[in-house]
This record gives sequence, C-alpha cells and structure tokens, in this order.
Amino acid sequence: MTSLLETPVPAAVDHLTLRRGAARVLLTNWTGSSTVPSRGLYPHQWSWDSAFIAIGLRHLSARRAQRELESLLGAQWADGRVPHIVFSPSVPLDAYFPSPDFWRSSTAGAPAGAPAGTETSGIVQPPVHALAAWLVHRADPETSRERGFLPRVYERLVAWHDYLTGPRDLGGGGLAAMVHPWEPGMDNSPCWDGPLGRVEPAAPGSYRRADLDHGQAAERPTDLDYGRYVRLAADYRDSGYADVPGGHAFAVEDPCVNALLIVSEHALARIAAGTGADPAPHEARAARLTAALVERLWSPADGMFLCRDLVGGELIPERSVAGLVPLIVPGLPRDVVDALLGTVAGPGFRLGEVPMAPSYDIDGHAFDPSRYWRGPAWFNTNWLLERGLRGYGQDGTADALRAAMLDAAGASSFAEYVDPFTAQARGTRAFGWTAALTLDLLAASRTADDGTTDTSMGVRT
Ligand code: SER
Repeated sequence: MTSLLETPVPAAVDHLTLRRGAARVLLTNWTGSSTVPSRGLYPHQWSWDSAFIAIGLRHLSARRAQRELESLLGAQWADGRVPHIVFSPSVPLDAYFPSPDFWRSSTAGAPAGAPAGTETSGIVQPPVHALAAWLVHRADPETSRERGFLPRVYERLVAWHDYLTGPRDLGGGGLAAMVHPWEPGMDNSPCWDGPLGRVEPAAPGSYRRADLDHGQAAERPTDLDYGRYVRLAADYRDSGYADVPGGHAFAVEDPCVNALLIVSEHALARIAAGTGADPAPHEARAARLTAALVERLWSPADGMFLCRDLVGGELIPERSVAGLVPLIVPGLPRDVVDALLGTVAGPGFRLGEVPMAPSYDIDGHAFDPSRYWRGPAWFNTNWLLERGLRGYGQDGTADALRAAMLDAAGASSFAEYVDPFTAQARGTRAFGWTAALTLDLLAASRTADDGTTDTSMGVRT
C-alpha cells in the first residue's frame, strides 16, 4: 500500500498565488448568473456545487454569490424540491448526459410543479443552501440588506426543507431519504453497491456517456453502475417524479445529507431572525432531526454513522466519509463525538497520517484511491470535517487539515479530487468548489486570530 511517507505530496503554492489561481477558476467558470463546476465535465449549474461555490465566491463578490444562490432557487419546483442540475439552454445537448431531453422536467415534472420555462433534472442534492445563504449574507450584510437577499431566499429555503422533511421522509423516522445515488452527491460510493445490486441496468446502447469525453475511465464510475443510474432516473421520471414510501427501487438515508440539513436548519433559524420571522420552529426541527440522526444512523460498533437502506431496512455495512460529516452537527452526545474523533484519526481514515480524509475506509474491501467516491479525498467533505473538528475544539487537527487542503488545492490545479495518500490530482481540474473552498480557507486563515471566527452551531461566519 502506498503511504504518504513513500510518496511526497506535490509542492505547495504560496497563498497569494493560490488566491489568484482560485479566483481565476471562479471567474472562468462564471456564466453571467451562476458558476459551472467545470467547463468540460459539468457545463451546467449543479445544486450543491453552487452552494459550496457561493461560500467561496462571497470573498470575491457578495453580490455574485447572492446571484449564484438566487439563480439556483429560481429553478425550484412548486413541491419545494431544488433540482440537482439547472440546464443552460446555450449548451449543446450532447455536451452532458443525461441531458434535458432525458429528464423532460417541464413535461414529466409538471405534476410535481417543475417550472415551465427552465429545464432541470428531477432529483435533488444535499441541502447546503441555507448554510451558504447565511454565510453569504454575513460576508457583506449591507449589500445583503440593500438587495433584500434574506427575504428573497427565506421562503424558498423553507419550502426546500419542508420538501425534504415531508415527502422525502420515505422511511417515516424523521430523516430525508435519497432515491438515486446522484442525490447524496457521492455517486458511486461503495455504500450504494448493495442497494444498486437490485437494479436492472439500462441497456448499454440506449444512451451515450458524455463524462468519458472529459475524464479517465479509471477515475469515473463503471458502465455497469452507469446503466443502473440511468434506469433509476428513467423510472423516477416515468412516475412523474412522485415520492412514494415503498415505491422506489433505491431509497436510502444518508448521514451527510441529514447532517447538512441540520446545519442548514440552524442557519435557517438565523435567517428567520434576520427577516423578522420566528427562529424557534427551525431550532425545534434541527433538534428533532439531530435526535433522529443519532437514533437511526449511529453505529456504536463502527464509531461512526452509516447509511440506512430503506428497501432492506438495515444499516449498510460500508464506512464512507459521509458517516464522519455529522461532526459538523452541534450538540451531539459526547460519546458520539469522542467516537467520531477516534474514527477520523483511526486506521480507516488516518487523518493526521494522510493529508486529507479519504472518501471511503482505506481498509475497506472496495477501497480504490483513484475512482470517484471510492477512496479519493474530496475538498468539500474535508472542508466540512475541518469545520466539524473546529466546532468540537480540535483546532490543532483542523489547522493541519486546512494547511494540507491548501497545499493540495494549489499543487493539483484545483482538482476535483485527489489521491488520499499522495494528494496527486484526480478527476477534472479547475473545479469550482475546490477553488471556492480554497478561498474560504484562505479567508478563515486570515481571520482565525482576530477573534471574529464563530464556530458555534457549525456556522462559522
Ligand atoms: N455527479 C454526476 C455526474 O457525474 C451527476 O450529478 O454526472
């Protein structure tokens, strides 16, 4: 097994150069109203990418960061769902698959309230948006007030959380469920291998993958997994994007998704207060979600959270970084926090020995240091861990992780993901959220010593 000691990480870049490089990526990927994750591989607007991008963009232009979130929320469906992709009409259909003519949101999604004038996908991604909206507001409260930013987004964010905690509580236990592996964002995590095994893949000749035009096959999902993604998406579309308990071949509760929902619900309480609304219902919902998260997804034997398969009804025995992300949730029971901190530094994830936490247990049977979400280290999950560590008083570990992320971002040309041992670039380059979160970490480094850093409730401003 390769180790960090055997293969040095690529040379670091100084912070000024890093900041300029990150800003250049965000300027290049800006379309006029939003930011593409990548000009080649992902040429439209993606939901959780946009939220992470707004968190970095706020350090360049608070106004542009507001527009990033507003343009995404502008494509919200009447049932409250925020689609995972908002398609740009100027991009050719064959530039990305599945394209708008596959999802057919404006027709197939009409029963669920899809907008008539904008084409989107019909699935969702993790709810980072209220957290992002609050952080964007805090970056420049004056511009935010002038533009009425918080009142403009508040009702939409409430509807989004109502959708996740209402129709998407498919398990009936108080958590949001995801009905496609693209929804939790960690597309081909080994967590989904079991649940996906029940899905008949779409016929190989019935569609053409566009992702392999831009990425190495060894760093992308396999054709077999892609066939299953296509089948699930087509079946959901053909049902009119209906959310029906017991009606999905794939339905899971994911700890990262629900942790982000909790942190965003806390942020929504602050946004409510900022608009003159009552924050109490949001704090109450965050508390209920936190209790449900521990009750339904905590695995004492693993020292981390696991995903729950709602079709089989069991916890999925695969250890992915999604199970560590709940460190961002404030007010977890002390024994849970202690166990999580032990697991982050333990044999499976080795934070402190490796530069950034891998996306999957290094000792797990499916670990692969290069393939999409099956082992590489990602910048968004590590940014969340950095906040979580800091929130629970682990400043030394958080500082080391922040420094390693900055080194890896610069040396990898803002790669989509990196090898967890060597920090060598994997996936596409000039990736939006890598650049954005680099800017955020650089800004946090500057304010860390001046007493303005607030890590309470997972919402560092
Ligand atoms: N991440 C998916 C892709 O690779 C879809 O959101 O295209």
